Amino acid sequence: MTAWDAGQYMKFSGERTQPSIDLAAKVAVLKPERIVDLGCGPGNSTEVLRSRWPGAEIVGLDSSEEMISAASRSFSEGKWVLADIASWESPVLFDVVFSNAALQWVPNHESLIPRLFALVASGGALAVQLPSHFKSAMHREILEVADDPAWRHLMDKAKTAMTKKPLSFYYDVLRPLASRLDLWETEYYHAVEGPESVLAWFRGTGLRPFLSALGSEEQKSRFEEKLLERYGRIFPRQADGRVLFPFRRLFFIAYRA
Ligand SMILES: C[S@@+](CC[C@H](N)C(=O)[O-])C[C@H]1O[C@@H](n2cnc3c(N)ncnc32)[C@H](O)[C@@H]1O
Repeated sequence: MTAWDAGQYMKFSGERTQPSIDLAAKVAVLKPERIVDLGCGPGNSTEVLRSRWPGAEIVGLDSSEEMISAASRSFSEGKWVLADIASWESPVLFDVVFSNAALQWVPNHESLIPRLFALVASGGALAVQLPSHFKSAMHREILEVADDPAWRHLMDKAKTAMTKKPLSFYYDVLRPLASRLDLWETEYYHAVEGPESVLAWFRGTGLRPFLSALGSEEQKSRFEEKLLERYGRIFPRQADGRVLFPFRRLFFIAYRA
């Protein structure tokens, strides 16, 4: 898959960071000493944790060199680790194991989620936010464009690149382990300049596997043109000329007694 592009990702930094603010605000762990931010990206979610718990030792972990170097450029005093969540092992436990908008890129949540919960110290919590917009018109349009006979045969891997589990799955996995479990979904409405902005939003995240599957720049442009045309149809302009696009997200916090 193509490398992560921190600049592209941070084009919508306010909107992309809001769920980590909302998640961190709800974590009922008073004075965590040690926190890990899994899939920390350019450090935006880690910074949210630093403001919420200024006294804690916080580690940001990501498998992208580009993201880790962007994070250490922006926050040189932070502690940054280049590692893959799927294989990462920690010799120490954390009071908060936090992950915002990253675990969808890691497979096998049946085993991953209990493994991450096992890293939570007594009195701590595993706090996670994941996208859950996979039934939205926006995502359906991506799948329909991917089904174009011109490139349909290249798209199998892209279609399964993200883990898409419902909230009830996380309930079943964590209920036997956690002393308390909070789960919820929120639909954020983003007011952006136009359908091109919706496309730009996904270019930085969910479209990456689909664009990477295409051989040439010309095919990538055609894919984007087709998607843009569809987004123009499904996102009517508001009175101020902007378009509102809904983005559903799933949250859970599992506490250890
Ligand atoms: C959408 S960004 C989220 C960044 C940040 N946490 C935020 O709240 O905006 C997803 C991040 O997860 C990272 N990521 C994806 N798969 C990963 C893996 N297997 N191990 C570690 N990081 C991973 C990517 O490199 C990327 O920086």
